[in-house]
Amino acid sequence: MSTIFTSSIGKKLMMSLAGFFLLAFLLVHLGINLLVIIYDDPMVYNKVAHFMGTNILVKIFEIVLMGGILLHIIYALILQIQNWIARPKRYSKANYSNTSFFSKFMIHTAIITLVFLAIHFADFYFKAKFGHTETLVVDGVLYHDLATEIVDKFKMLPFVVFYIAAFIFLGFHLVHGFQSAFKTYGLDNSRFTPVIQALAIVYSVVIVGGNTMIPLMIYFS
Ligand code: HEM
Repeated sequence: MSTIFTSSIGKKLMMSLAGFFLLAFLLVHLGINLLVIIYDDPMVYNKVAHFMGTNILVKIFEIVLMGGILLHIIYALILQIQNWIARPKRYSKANYSNTSFFSKFMIHTAIITLVFLAIHFADFYFKAKFGHTETLVVDGVLYHDLATEIVDKFKMLPFVVFYIAAFIFLGFHLVHGFQSAFKTYGLDNSRFTPVIQALAIVYSVVIVGGNTMIPLMIYFS
């Protein structure tokens, strides 16, 4: 049983499992964030964020999410280091290795996404958690005004540029990550591969396009 955590394939399985979970989270997170640009009333977003921040099931999900992010990073790092040790010499000819364009930059796009996440947490998550967000009382209930916080951030050009650049790098990470997760679970044969490749592109375009629309629409409104 312990080999599932320590064998090479076990580590890949764990990393991909966490990856699947993060892929699902990104869709839900995007769906909720789009409320800021769909509705003029900030309370629509604030009420959903309030539910997400107080519901016990969502709180459990949040702990699993943070665990999933950590697990994904730890297993990715171990596998990357093992790869470097197993193949110490870089290929002398460019494109010699038989890997796709996106797969070659997984560690780079991962590091950029990690830096983005640290800044993103400081921008919103920690601010909300440690009570540094403006609050509103509606019908006797106290809400964090996260919607106004998002709008205020994306009225500033440097934030817009930084977030959109980060989304593009995240998209590169997702195109390969999506396919790789399915491959790990054996869905890689002549019948499924083209479907998974197409789904990976659709998924990544939706995530990058949807997220990019938020700062753009706010900045230009
Ligand atoms: C324009 C796009 C985005 C906006 C407006 C946004 C906004 C927010 C806000 C307001 C929170 C705090 C929620 C709370 O504490 O109640 C949050 C949390 C979080 N965001 Fe984002 N986010 C965006 C994109 C992303 C992306 C692309 C990622 C992943 C790479 C991400 C990952 C997270 C995570 C992991 C959390 C903590 C868990 C949670 O509270 O749901 N976000 N985001």
